[in-house]
Amino acid sequence: MNKQKISLFVLLVLAFASVKADEGMWLLQLMKEQHSIDMMKKQGLLLEADDVYNPNGVSLKDAVGIFGGGCTGEIISSEGLILTNHHCGYDAIQQHSSVDHDYLTDGFWAKNRKEEIPTPGLAFTYIERIEDITDLVNTQIKEGKTTVIGSYTNGYLTKLADQLLAKSNLKGKPGISAQALPFYAGNKYYLMFKKRYSDVRMVAAPPSAIGKFGGETDNWMWPRHTGDFSMFRIYADANGEPAEYSPNNVPLKCKKHLTISLKGVQEGDYAMVMGFPGRTSRYLTASEVKERMEAQNAPRIRVRGARQDVLIAEMNKSDKVRIQYASKYARSCNYWKNSIGMNKAIVDNKVIETKFAQENKFIEFAKSKGNQEYMDVVKKIDDDISKISASEYQATCFQEVFLGGIEFGTPYLLCDTLKTALDKNDKVLAASMIEKMKKSYSQIHNKDYDHEVDRKVAKALLPLYAEMIPAEQRPAIYSVIEKEFKGDYNKFVDACYDNSIFANQANFDRFIKSPSKSALEKDLMVKYVRAKYDKLKELSEGSKSLSESLALLHKTYVRGLNEMKEPVPSYPDANFTLRLTYGNVKSYDPKDGVHYKYFTTMKGIMEKEDPNNREFTVPAKLKELYNNKDFGRYAMKNGEMPVCFLSTNDITGGNSGSPVINGKGQLIGAAFDGNWESLSGDINFNNDLQRCICVDIRYVLFIVEKLGNSKHLVDEMTIEE
Ligand code: ARG
Repeated sequence: MNKQKISLFVLLVLAFASVKADEGMWLLQLMKEQHSIDMMKKQGLLLEADDVYNPNGVSLKDAVGIFGGGCTGEIISSEGLILTNHHCGYDAIQQHSSVDHDYLTDGFWAKNRKEEIPTPGLAFTYIERIEDITDLVNTQIKEGKTTVIGSYTNGYLTKLADQLLAKSNLKGKPGISAQALPFYAGNKYYLMFKKRYSDVRMVAAPPSAIGKFGGETDNWMWPRHTGDFSMFRIYADANGEPAEYSPNNVPLKCKKHLTISLKGVQEGDYAMVMGFPGRTSRYLTASEVKERMEAQNAPRIRVRGARQDVLIAEMNKSDKVRIQYASKYARSCNYWKNSIGMNKAIVDNKVIETKFAQENKFIEFAKSKGNQEYMDVVKKIDDDISKISASEYQATCFQEVFLGGIEFGTPYLLCDTLKTALDKNDKVLAASMIEKMKKSYSQIHNKDYDHEVDRKVAKALLPLYAEMIPAEQRPAIYSVIEKEFKGDYNKFVDACYDNSIFANQANFDRFIKSPSKSALEKDLMVKYVRAKYDKLKELSEGSKSLSESLALLHKTYVRGLNEMKEPVPSYPDANFTLRLTYGNVKSYDPKDGVHYKYFTTMKGIMEKEDPNNREFTVPAKLKELYNNKDFGRYAMKNGEMPVCFLSTNDITGGNSGSPVINGKGQLIGAAFDGNWESLSGDINFNNDLQRCICVDIRYVLFIVEKLGNSKHLVDEMTIEE
């Protein structure tokens, strides 16, 4: 294209795209090609493309990474300090908590580097490099080597990534791995080289009464008053390379960290969010949206609700259980409430109607192109969905009850091997199995597991599952319950939870002293687990060919929809890869007659205070700071202390902890939630309603300095005017 054509193209794109300026989780590597950089500048960005993402140099992207397994974190000092959400650090905070050191309740502030707590299992992962491998994959598809499409766990892609890594100059470097993934439903493929630092230490966390203020009641809602942040630090070996924990490791000297602005935000200010959105489904058909509501969200809501009732009752009775189950409970509630909100928002926002309209438009487009494949594709998707939705419903119930609900189980494969060993009198094998069993015993009865709580969960969920799923579709253990226990779930559960070899230390010790085949054969819990895995296999094999067919149809549908939109560029669905979304700070009107301001202040914390409700308790120290207006340099010009703000950025789960960056490239907050009215947003973005909820960086630093007495942390950051 010559220059004139390019600018015409840009104008055209801008004209079309300004209708939906804030929607889009854009790929950084396509920022120039898709002209998102031009759009960003139009919205207020003062930087150049290379400042944001530079494959050949250092850019903002190098200050952002994957925190743990499902969140985003950003580097805020040259010495490896990470900012993320409190709810992202929650597992770690809980892992280090006990009744004696209750960091969940009291918060945690390392006074110096020595006090920063190593957190095994936690990692921070940078994206080193991104390569387009679409042509390579397409060639292999043509050659019949694979049929890969949308499946993320596809073995072919894993192998391909490993092969490409082995050929690259990053091969064998510490912490490096490669991941190949489909984008645009398999119309494009990218290879990501990642660098994983596995010595990450806990540095700071506010009390939950700040970091999780509002609890489940306020979750997914605005107006919000949550200081949802925590801080960690990356440690590396002396060369700055990833290394397992060692006392000799040192804070990582980072090549890039975000600078911070304390100037605050005004309505209309430019805001962009860089991070790792987990999953969106923006290209669903109307039939798929219905399926999402009925076969996924509805059963999830029902099962989780029942489990959560049991958990919260037990957590309220005991501090020990409260700490043990804090993270599991929060995780369950999060997408329980999200599912409720999504089903409501799909109706309120007329998402199904919108999808039908889109399908009709697409058929017209297909006809105008004379493209038969496009003409048929929606109908074919609908047909597949009608065939698969019953098993989707079954799979959700199974997942929520047996994989995400009841925890107790026995390692039945180990038990099988031990049985064989006993049969053959193979003492060496038997001894090695017993050793493995010891390990699995301690994994079952881990620090965060309470056998009595789980017993109650099982008593609630097994009969509930029977209400939801007809007898012939249940795991085989249900016939044991019918026959041997006359359908009495409580008796069955007690028999398992009292008598299984793995039920308690005494049973287990007795068994390993003289392991016997008959004890293994009689064990009800072994039978239960076997039945569970048989069912799992049946479910996944049963839907495999339909899932593949659906994935292929989506490849066609997404290609067609993108063609229909041209010249406006499209962004691919989220798949937990690095994305950029740009927009503005903005208020909204949730319903007729109601206007929501774009920010909240500490005044609202005091309004919400309820000393009798754990979710709305305000720490005495915070109240004191508020009453004395002891806000340091963090207050707004009018003397009020900001807490959270809203932006139009297109985010979803996985973006949690992502940096919110202003037009100059400075950090102004951390994204931590979406809003209730637009919980259908993962399926269809609504420009008027969808907002990103962010904690204001000024509130974060105020809490760190004034409540956490940790000015040393603020001092290592770069605060710019
Ligand atoms: N809704 C937030 C997210 O998905 C998580 C908030 C966690 N807090 C809670 N109360 N469960 O990112």
